[in-house]
Amino acid sequence: MAKIKRIDHIALIVQDIQGALSLWRDTLGLEVSEIKHLTGEAAQVAFLPVGGSEVELVKPTTGDSGLAKYLDKYGPGMHHVCLEVDDIQGMLDKLKEQGIRLVDETPKTGDHGKKFAFIHPKATFGVLVELYEYPGV
Ligand code: CO
Repeated sequence: MAKIKRIDHIALIVQDIQGALSLWRDTLGLEVSEIKHLTGEAAQVAFLPVGGSEVELVKPTTGDSGLAKYLDKYGPGMHHVCLEVDDIQGMLDKLKEQGIRLVDETPKTGDHGKKFAFIHPKATFGVLVELYEYPGV
C-alpha cells in the first residue's frame, strides 16, 4: 500500500520574491539552493532546504496563470504542502477509490523524472496537497 515518506516542501506564494528571500535567507538564515523560472507554471521559484525538507517561494510571472489568480484572490501566504510518497499512482488510486477529489488523476512528470500530482483543497480541509514520487525508489 502506498505510503507517505516525508514532507518534501512547503510552498509559499509571494508577489515580492526579493522581499521574501530577504526574510527567509537573510533574516531567518536559510540557504538558497536554487532559483529558477518554471515556464510551464509561469513562476519564479526559490528553494531553501531545511532539515530534509524545503521551503519553496513561488512568484507568479504572468498575470493570468492559476498561481497569479490564487495570489490575487487570497494574497501572499501558504500555497501548498508537498508530501513524498513511495507510490504516487497507488496513492492517487486509493484516494479516488475513497471519493477524494483530485486535481490530477494521473501524475505529471517534472524535472529529473519526478512525478507529481495535486489533491483538491476542497477534499483536504482547505490545504492544497501535492504528492511527489522520486524516480528510482
Ligand atoms: Co510544490
